[in-house]
Amino acid sequence: MFPLRRNRRLRTSESMRSLVRETIINPNDFIVPLFVVEGKGIKEEIASMPNYFRLSLDLLEKEVKELWKLGLKSVLLFVKVEDKLKDNTGKEALNPDGLMQRAIKTVKNAVPEMLVMTDVALDPFSIYGHDGIISEGKVLNDDSSAVLAEMALSHAKAGADVVAPSDMMDGRIFEIRTLLEDEGYFDTAIMAYSAKYASAFYGPFRDALDSAPVDLKDIPKDKKTYQMDFGNRLEAIRETLMDIEEGADIVMVKPGLCYLDIVREITNAVNVPVAVYQVSGEYAMLKAAAERGWLDHDAVMMEQVTAIKRAGATMIASYFAKDVVKLIS
Ligand code: PBG
Repeated sequence: MFPLRRNRRLRTSESMRSLVRETIINPNDFIVPLFVVEGKGIKEEIASMPNYFRLSLDLLEKEVKELWKLGLKSVLLFVKVEDKLKDNTGKEALNPDGLMQRAIKTVKNAVPEMLVMTDVALDPFSIYGHDGIISEGKVLNDDSSAVLAEMALSHAKAGADVVAPSDMMDGRIFEIRTLLEDEGYFDTAIMAYSAKYASAFYGPFRDALDSAPVDLKDIPKDKKTYQMDFGNRLEAIRETLMDIEEGADIVMVKPGLCYLDIVREITNAVNVPVAVYQVSGEYAMLKAAAERGWLDHDAVMMEQVTAIKRAGATMIASYFAKDVVKLIS
């Protein structure tokens, strides 16, 4: 008896395989995270993120023009804040002439069609490296949310298309949405980091922005009172559904690879676009293994981003975006 079904028939050649392939990566899948610093002519490589850089505004302009030419149409901005501007209130985050606000304008001037997304959280602005305001050893929820809403509004005023709260305070999506509506910013979208886990994969990012929680008495050493426990699944669905009710347009799962089960469940449970953040530690891991010749960089990179999309991601924020697009073009 021969096998009635021979699945290998559909794998016999690349032409056949490409005909039946279910998941195909293209430039529209990506959001490019960018790190911005004060100064001129600055392009500093991040030690734990080979070939990834902090850019001053003049070089940011150059970079976004290059991204646009490659077909990459959205960027997610992060700023590295000077120590002297950090405090426990996030005051600098609201400065209409702050680095983030100028970065938004720089991108919009350079490439008006480029979609500008901005990180909304206090950690780069906090002397303690936390996403909110600290009092008596705790990260305050409601006081922090109020500042985050003001921060989001400030980004919208500077021209951001999408604000992306990455802080995990309760109720902040509602606060942000309400303030944006009250102020007439009806078209500013919210991409909520809904299922954001307290992950050790964020290490290189915190190096990039010098934003790690400080080691001081009475200051929480980690973000576990606001970011999610990595053993939890139902909580991710609960968080995500709440963010949608509160007014999120796009929801996010973060990190990527270790959380693809969550991505699939959330994709099945919601009817809004789902973003996945393939985070700094995931980037660093592959770069390090590839540098040693232990993994084939491009092959593993494509496998990873394809897996994220196959799991259900509508879009992927990834430090590999440029590498991928160059490889497939
Ligand atoms: C800040 C923020 C973090 C990341 C995105 N926004 C770090 C953190 O929560 O500590 C991580 C991104 C990455 O690791 O690439 N709220």
